[in-house]
Amino acid sequence: MSRNASTNWFFAIVSGENAELARVEIETLLQMVDSKYEVSWHEKVAIIEGLQDPTDFLLQRAALLKEAGKIVFETDSLDGAALEIPDDLLKSNVGNNETFCIRTMPFLPGREIETRESLVIDLGNRIQRTTGAKVHLENPDIRVLVLAMSDRVLICTSEESQLRGELRGRRPGRKPFFHPSMMNASLARTMCNLARVMPNETVLDPFCGGGGILCEIASIGARPIGLELNWRLLKGASMNLAGIQNSDYSLIQGDAKNLPVKNCHHVVTDPPYGRASSTRGEKAVRLVEALLENAEDTILPGGSMCTCHSSEMEIPDVIRQFGFKIEYQMRFRVHGGLVREVITINL
Ligand SMILES: C[S@@+](CC[C@H](N)C(=O)[O-])C[C@H]1O[C@@H](n2cnc3c(N)ncnc32)[C@H](O)[C@@H]1O
Repeated sequence: MSRNASTNWFFAIVSGENAELARVEIETLLQMVDSKYEVSWHEKVAIIEGLQDPTDFLLQRAALLKEAGKIVFETDSLDGAALEIPDDLLKSNVGNNETFCIRTMPFLPGREIETRESLVIDLGNRIQRTTGAKVHLENPDIRVLVLAMSDRVLICTSEESQLRGELRGRRPGRKPFFHPSMMNASLARTMCNLARVMPNETVLDPFCGGGGILCEIASIGARPIGLELNWRLLKGASMNLAGIQNSDYSLIQGDAKNLPVKNCHHVVTDPPYGRASSTRGEKAVRLVEALLENAEDTILPGGSMCTCHSSEMEIPDVIRQFGFKIEYQMRFRVHGGLVREVITINL
C-alpha cells in the first residue's frame, strides 16, 4: 500500500541534546502558526499535518531544530519507493534547471544499509531522467531526504537550519562583552520561543546581566528591555546588543524589587544563582517573589513569563502561591550537579 502524501504533510528533526525541550519548542512554534496542526513524534522526528507550511517559520525561530521540510511521498516499502513516486510529484518538486542531492536517514532498526544505498541510486536516476535536474552533493538547490521509519518510508524535501550555526556564533564567549553569568544563545532563543515572543513585542529581562537573553529577543525582531543592578554588566549588554542588526532596545540600571517597567508583552529571564551572579545580599528567591507580586502590572494580559533558574530555588511552589498556573516545566542537569529548571506561565 502506498499513499501520495498531499501538500499538507511536513516534518521537523530536532537535536538529541535536550529532546524534551526541543519537542516543546517545536510544538509551541507550530501553535504560533496555526493551533490546528496535528503532530506525532518518532524519536527526534516530528510528522506534522496541517494546512500551512511551517518550515520557514521553524527554521527562522527554533534553536533546537536541525532540519525541516515537506513530505512529498509516503510508502510502506523501502524497496519500491523510488519506482512508486509519480512523475508529476518529482517534476513539481525538482525543476529541470535545479541541482539536487539525496540522503537517507534510518530512524528505527530493520532498514539495511544496502537497501537504502540502492534506493538512493534508483531515486537519483529517476529524478535525473524525469526532471532533467543534475546531482550536486555539496551545495544543491534541493535536498531530498528519505526517512526510513519502522513502518513507512517518507520521501521529503528538506532544509537545514542555518540558525544553529548563527547561535553558535552568538554564544557568550564570542560576544563583544563576556561574563560567566551570561545565558547561552541557544537556551535564550528556546526560552523566547516558549514565551511565544513575536516581532515588535516588548520583552523584559529584569536580571539582564550582559544581555544573553536580550540579544535573542532583539534577533527575533522584538524590543528588549533590560534591567540590571550592576552598571558594568549593563554597559556590556549594550556592547552586545550593538552587534544585533536593527535592534531597538532600552537598558535601565535598577533593582528588580522595584520594577520601573510596566505593560510588557512578555518577561524572559534567569534570576541570579551560583557564584557568577551577585544579588548584593538579597535572597534570589525573594527577587522572584517581587517579580511575581508585580507580574500583572509588568505583563499585559495574554502575555507570558519564561524563567530559567536553579531547581534548588523551588520556584514552582512560589508561582503557585501567587496563583499562577504553570504551562510548562522541565528540569535538566547542567554541570557540577547544577540542575536548571525552565518554567513558562501565561498571564
Ligand atoms: C544569571 S545572571 C543574568 C544573565 C542574563 N539574563 C543573560 O541573559 O545573560 C543574573 C543577573 O541578575 C543581576 N541581579 C542580581 N540582583 C538583582 C536585582 N535585585 N535587580 C536586578 N538585577 C539583579 C546580577 O547582577 C546578574 O547579572
